[in-house]
Amino acid sequence: MLTLAGIEPFAIGGTRRCYVHPDDDQLCVKVLRADRTARARLATATGWRRLKGRRGFDDQRKELKAYRQLERRGWRNWRHVPLCHGAVQTDLGLGIVTALHRDWRGRFPPNLEQVLPGGMTEPLAKAIEEFKKWLRRDLFLSRDLLPHNIIAVADAPERHRLVIVDGIGNSELVPVSNWFDLCARRKVERKIRKFEQRVRILLPTPADATP
Ligand SMILES: Nc1ncnc2c1ncn2[C@@H]1O[C@H](COP(=O)(O)OP(=O)(O)O)[C@@H](O)[C@H]1O
Ligand SMILES: [Mg+2]
Repeated sequence: MLTLAGIEPFAIGGTRRCYVHPDDDQLCVKVLRADRTARARLATATGWRRLKGRRGFDDQRKELKAYRQLERRGWRNWRHVPLCHGAVQTDLGLGIVTALHRDWRGRFPPNLEQVLPGGMTEPLAKAIEEFKKWLRRDLFLSRDLLPHNIIAVADAPERHRLVIVDGIGNSELVPVSNWFDLCARRKVERKIRKFEQRVRILLPTPADATP
């Protein structure tokens, strides 16, 4: 059992708290926020959502399943998605252990929602292109590619790399994209198109620059 209570999380998302693993500072442990457990969410769900049942609200279980699917596909490229080391019991509930990505100075990287409003830079533009190329080449299946779930890791001051830390796996009810490459390709294109729109929205408009 891992003790996390008393440690300050390095990031808190909409659903989870992210900690540096107490025994290995290269690893990240994610646990559900107390208000986002499957039990808490089912208790406040209304209408048809209640039909999903407790399992339908368990994001940790979904993410572990997505990682298992990658493993089954023989996935080896962990440049743009963190390597998962499985689950661990913690005093704050089930934790998912993954590689923790840091920049060249050892700092925690910002996510795209945090960096894009500061404007596009050459290293960032290159990193976005590389990321899209990778999604297409490896047919990486994800839920929506949301900027706050993608971090911009500066491996060097002028060399950035995008890593998707949340939203991995296939959201389809009938997972046709897992079975047919053509469906997967179409899905990846759809996700990229929407991702590009989100990036554009976050960038400052020329009007922001005028005093
Ligand atoms: N492996 C990681 N390496 C570095 N930063 C991470 C990692 N995983 C998550 N983060 C940071 O923590 C934030 C929240 O993580 P996330 O998995 O998106 O949680 P949630 O499920 O609450 O949305 C991310 O936006 C990112 O800034
Ligand atoms: Mg997230």
